[in-house]
Amino acid sequence: MKILITGGLGFIGSAVVRHLIGDSDHEVINLDKMTYAATTASVSSVENNPRYTFEQTDICDPEALRETFAKHRPDAVMHLAAESHVDRSIDGPSAFIHTNLIGTFNLLEAARNSGVARFHHVSTDEVYGSLGMTDPAFTEQTSYDPRSPYSASKAGSDHLVRAWGETYGMSTLITNCSNNYGPYHFPEKLIPLVTIKAMAGDPLPVYGKGDNVRDWLFVEDHARALVLVAESGLPGETYNIGGDEERTNLEVVTAICHQLDSIDPLPDGRPRTDLITFVADRPGHDLRYAIDHSKIGAELGWAPTVGFEQGLERTVEWYRENENWWGPLQQLATERRGLKT
Ligand SMILES: NC(=O)c1ccc[n+]([C@@H]2O[C@H](COP(=O)([O-])OP(=O)(O)OC[C@H]3O[C@@H](n4cnc5c(N)ncnc54)[C@H](O)[C@@H]3O)[C@@H](O)[C@H]2O)c1
Repeated sequence: MKILITGGLGFIGSAVVRHLIGDSDHEVINLDKMTYAATTASVSSVENNPRYTFEQTDICDPEALRETFAKHRPDAVMHLAAESHVDRSIDGPSAFIHTNLIGTFNLLEAARNSGVARFHHVSTDEVYGSLGMTDPAFTEQTSYDPRSPYSASKAGSDHLVRAWGETYGMSTLITNCSNNYGPYHFPEKLIPLVTIKAMAGDPLPVYGKGDNVRDWLFVEDHARALVLVAESGLPGETYNIGGDEERTNLEVVTAICHQLDSIDPLPDGRPRTDLITFVADRPGHDLRYAIDHSKIGAELGWAPTVGFEQGLERTVEWYRENENWWGPLQQLATERRGLKT
């Protein structure tokens, strides 16, 4: 297939691009506006491949989208472009409404008018709301209950995609995944932020008491699942994707500290857990997310292959070796966001 992927210079999108070029024979058109979250270095390993093309296009610009679709005539769309940082959505929800809602609407219309055969929309488990500690994990039947501007905008975009499937007969697919982690993750998100600060011996900010629980999914496992759904998912279906690795934020931060202490102890010999500093919680911070991914396992044969400890080791090692990637992004990521209410 000729696959047009949006947001392919972001964290997950670039993993999908690398996977599509490295492990399949699909053609890839990477459409990205290049916001603060985009890094061209994340696709440098594949950018000279003849099956790869890049288009700098804003999904909020319908005319530019029309031209890009007319030029490339893609068979399928994988839609990952979004404003994705919850804290930023609290300080400035407008960009989230524009990109995640209006942008998705524009993209659906461009795809429909150009006769795209499959439209795969990538969404989040956050649309399902917050779980109590003993509640069962989210399934594809869980009712939507988004609670942040980010998750509300993603929930709205999911509804648009379903509506375009029902109303216009488009072959739409939706995936809702848990928290991703791995190489090339923008340094404002928890795992890269804490890794970089812990390497330097700086204070490690943890929201509230650090007891919020997330299910962690290694990004390369996720990229594999997304390509499988784009290729073989049943039109009209939704698939949940998770890592089966629930951890509290404090457990995640502690694991990073232990790993770095074992390979590169601080000069004064202090354990890095001494650097943990509890800071004011994010407003409306969801307590727990957990994903039941049995459907994609039963129907498409996917399962996560990288456990949390192994994935974290690979991730921390990658950040130790790739300051040339994350160093220039530091100034965009340092400011604490999400405190305005
Ligand atoms: N990262 C996670 O843990 C996670 C979890 C669940 C769902 N998701 C979803 O997966 C998708 C990818 O997430 P990510 O973490 O890779 O995001 P990211 O913020 O790392 O990357 C987003 C990319 O989209 C591009 N983009 C933003 N606005 C655009 C616009 N108007 N037009 C074109 N391109 C634009 C950016 O330039 C960037 O390259 C998003 O839809 C997100 O909601 C992410």
